Amino acid sequence: MNRRQFLASASALALLPRQVMAAQDPLRLKAEAVVQQVLPEGDGMTAMLGFNGAMPGPELRVRRAQRVTVEVENGLDEGTAVHWHGIRLENKMDGVPVLTQSLIDPGRTKTYSFVPPDAGTYWYHSHYISNEQVARGMMGPLIVEDDVPPDVDHDITVLLSDWRMQEDGSLVEEYSDMHSVAHGGYMGNFARGFLSKSTVQVGDRVRLRMINAATNRIFPVQVTGVSGSIMAYDGMALAVPRPLTQVILAPAQRADLIVDVEADVGFDMVIRDGLYRLADLAAEGTNTDRMPSPITALSPPDLPIPDTPSQHLTLTMMGGAMGGRHDGDNIWAFNDVSDLQEEPFGTFQRGETVRITMVNDTSFPHGIHLHGHHFYEVGEGNALGDLRDTTLVDAGASRDIICVFDNPGRWLLHCHMLSHAVGGMRTWVNVV
Ligand code: C2O
Ligand code: CU
Repeated sequence: MNRRQFLASASALALLPRQVMAAQDPLRLKAEAVVQQVLPEGDGMTAMLGFNGAMPGPELRVRRAQRVTVEVENGLDEGTAVHWHGIRLENKMDGVPVLTQSLIDPGRTKTYSFVPPDAGTYWYHSHYISNEQVARGMMGPLIVEDDVPPDVDHDITVLLSDWRMQEDGSLVEEYSDMHSVAHGGYMGNFARGFLSKSTVQVGDRVRLRMINAATNRIFPVQVTGVSGSIMAYDGMALAVPRPLTQVILAPAQRADLIVDVEADVGFDMVIRDGLYRLADLAAEGTNTDRMPSPITALSPPDLPIPDTPSQHLTLTMMGGAMGGRHDGDNIWAFNDVSDLQEEPFGTFQRGETVRITMVNDTSFPHGIHLHGHHFYEVGEGNALGDLRDTTLVDAGASRDIICVFDNPGRWLLHCHMLSHAVGGMRTWVNVV
């Protein structure tokens, strides 16, 4: 991807609307058509989909271990369903049509209710014809607040996505052309970040919650004007914060940073011939109150400790050539099987520890997402690595994961490059 393939980069960016509600109040989300300033101010507005009149939808901030109730009203002229990405919730609240619920028909409301067990950065998005509904804007941040929040001056969400647009800001209404489905997937020609705040002060300590909400694009992000640490991936605190370098976010992945502001802050995507500005955070004035102090780890999540795996399965990603091994839409597969079948990829006893070797036998990277659980990426010498809900496996590479399947139900396992998921790269597991 290079600069000439993009529309101009973003500047003068609108704010992400933030809706803060106590966990005991029912939250209300109305899926509906919206008109949003996505291109820089002064350029055309974009007719798209969103929630509560905006794209991205409102930022939902909830408390860990307290029940959240969300009433989702479908104001669209087609069905929908909402998935709470990364939350270890009850299966029937997972928002997956066919597997866990029926569609919310136009004009109908569905009440979702769950208790988020882990603090961190999550997001919600449509899970119905998601390659299209998410590309059209059905997404928003879901923040589970820490019991004891870290000592920061600002807590700012940075939601990243991309859109395929005309110069006038209208969307190119083509989401599943066979060429992109069989390659890297639908990609926008305009990308940007939506921030929940637009200014900070030099000297502030800031938590940045970055979410890749794009349907298919991997964002390599460089944050300038700050120094600091990577604190969490996919909502899960790292035991030891890491020095901030380039952060690579596959679709659906999140990274939390804590940084000290030194100058105007820039969020840049690294592209072939340089940098592409996704968002700016202006530094206005100086915070003279904050004393320098080390950045310490966020509270660790409370997850079951893996046993020695009792099953070792292999999940091979295949396909991807037009007219290749599968017919019709099923051009991607796991283990030669496209799309959901009667038989799950695996059946696990509740609490069972399982190792899965994910082999990418294709020419494209894939970001593989497991619903209802977090899993460990297995590192060198079998060490348990980072906890994730979505893992990026490069073309030709493989990755082992270890997961304690302690959440009963029928859970999707799919590529979060949503064009690939719709193209057949999805399956499910049954935890009984
Ligand atoms: Cu982010 Cu199957 O979902
Ligand atoms: Cu994929």
